[in-house]
Amino acid sequence: MRTTLRDLRRLHAERQPIVVLTCYEASFARAMDAAGIDVLLVGDSLGMVVQGHDSPNPVSLADVAYHTRAVARGSQQALVMADLPFGTSQVSPEETFRNAVVLIQAGAQMVKLEGGVDMADTIHFLVRRGIPVCAHIGMTPQSHHQFGGFRVQGRDEAGAQRVLADAAAVEAAGADLLLMECIPRQLADQIVTQAGVPTIGIGASPLCSGQVLVLHDVIGLGPVPLARLAKDFSAAPGGVAGAIRAYAEAVRAGTFPDAQHCY
Ligand code: KIV
Repeated sequence: MRTTLRDLRRLHAERQPIVVLTCYEASFARAMDAAGIDVLLVGDSLGMVVQGHDSPNPVSLADVAYHTRAVARGSQQALVMADLPFGTSQVSPEETFRNAVVLIQAGAQMVKLEGGVDMADTIHFLVRRGIPVCAHIGMTPQSHHQFGGFRVQGRDEAGAQRVLADAAAVEAAGADLLLMECIPRQLADQIVTQAGVPTIGIGASPLCSGQVLVLHDVIGLGPVPLARLAKDFSAAPGGVAGAIRAYAEAVRAGTFPDAQHCY
């Protein structure tokens, strides 16, 4: 039986960590099912780790749909979440809905979009029409030009207030999951404490309801040096499948992330 949003809410209520990992194709999807990954994220990080770009922004809706179809065919257990790539959610709610439908029809059970306060109307529009939404706040990679790079957000008081306002706005709009990336741990802890929906962290806090990493970082194919938020599990026995299992076990045991992976 495939994991559903209901299952994620139950894990959250029971304080059992939710394990999320990016996935872009069928063979890895099968390996991730075998390792018990709860959510496979077809992230627009595929622009960097699969297509070789230096940012996610060249990725198209057709690209994400293609990889979502492959992941959905390969997996039978995990919930499949697909990213709305750059330019496909920064449009009207109606157009975003049509773009989200493409990803749902490709096999996703949930879409992810970047942004907070400014995306509230769009999130509301999608969830009212039956599309589960994960809102990605903090360091939103599609806005890296605006940030002057892939930089930690919310470090100063004004920045922290912006991230807090984003978290409150997306939850009020009906977002089903709140994903926060690259924000100070203290700020992430405050959001986790205030949030009524499951929170997923990457460079955020061990207190989040779940964690996500990019597959290539986990299996030893990430950049050298790895970003602080990531961890290479490729030294675990069992090759690639063993690294994926070790990541899942570390998240469930609460040993990843630790202070070394937070800001
Ligand atoms: O695209 C992606 O892989 C992501 C994760 C890093 C959260 O958005």
